[in-house]
Amino acid sequence: MRAELNDMAMCATIVIGEGERDEAPMLYIGERLGRGEGPSVQIAVDPLEGTNLCANGTPNAISVLAAAVEGEGFLMHAPDCYMEKLVVGPECAGVVDITLPPRINVKLMSKSLGKDVSELIIGVLDRPRHETLIQELRDAGCRVHLVPDGDLSVAIAALDPDSGVDGLMGTGGAPEGVITAAAVLCTAGEMQAKLIFKNKEEQARAAKMMSGDPERVLTTSDMAKGHVYFSATGITPGDLLRGVRFGRRYARTESILMESSSGTIRRVETSFTLNERGS
Ligand code: FBP
Repeated sequence: MRAELNDMAMCATIVIGEGERDEAPMLYIGERLGRGEGPSVQIAVDPLEGTNLCANGTPNAISVLAAAVEGEGFLMHAPDCYMEKLVVGPECAGVVDITLPPRINVKLMSKSLGKDVSELIIGVLDRPRHETLIQELRDAGCRVHLVPDGDLSVAIAALDPDSGVDGLMGTGGAPEGVITAAAVLCTAGEMQAKLIFKNKEEQARAAKMMSGDPERVLTTSDMAKGHVYFSATGITPGDLLRGVRFGRRYARTESILMESSSGTIRRVETSFTLNERGS
């Protein structure tokens, strides 16, 4: 990913990446990429979203990137902390509120979608911290789709009315959250979020990186605004995207590409011819 980005005619800066310089050798926050000519671009990457999914060969590991040309679009600079997220598709945009209890939000969603709460499917990361949330959703009567990792994939599913998943709730990584917001903007869905800080240092760092009160409810446009691009490529086979497939002399991938200004969503199947060493 880094080699390809470095070969493009742009002056890019990684705003969300693999930690900062001392923790990651490549695609770290603040790293400059591109040929040094052309537009200034902000890039948010998660080259391997679902590290454990990939290591275990389980579904839904993806490689994701969001980008915005400076002056045309914006991506929030988020610290690597947790973020409480609520993501819904276009039909429920404008009806949910992250400050309300989940049981109320699913009722509001069921009205908008014209289906019973018992037919709703809400994706939640399978974590002990979500015990109360899961119980509340089940008590409300809706179905909970528990995933071992990868709340970004679940969010993208929630944006697609045909996926069967109606929403994402719960707490995951903030960097994944900002990349999710780019996809939400491209699909006219809605995302609301709140950063969760472990300590005062984390909070102070966030205050330096972003504008406004870091503890406020963040809307989609606080995290992604204007003309942005989103891309996800399947690594392991998943609900949304096929995984990487290898032949003797080729590798094939499937990607989903979104653009906010035109609202287009494309699926791209790519075949790469491999050399004799298989690279
Ligand atoms: P990584 O692959 O980058 O580790 O992220 C996987 C993931 O499940 C994200 O989708 C999610 O936002 C985050 O980790 C949740 O963090 P935690 O595993 O600490 O609950």
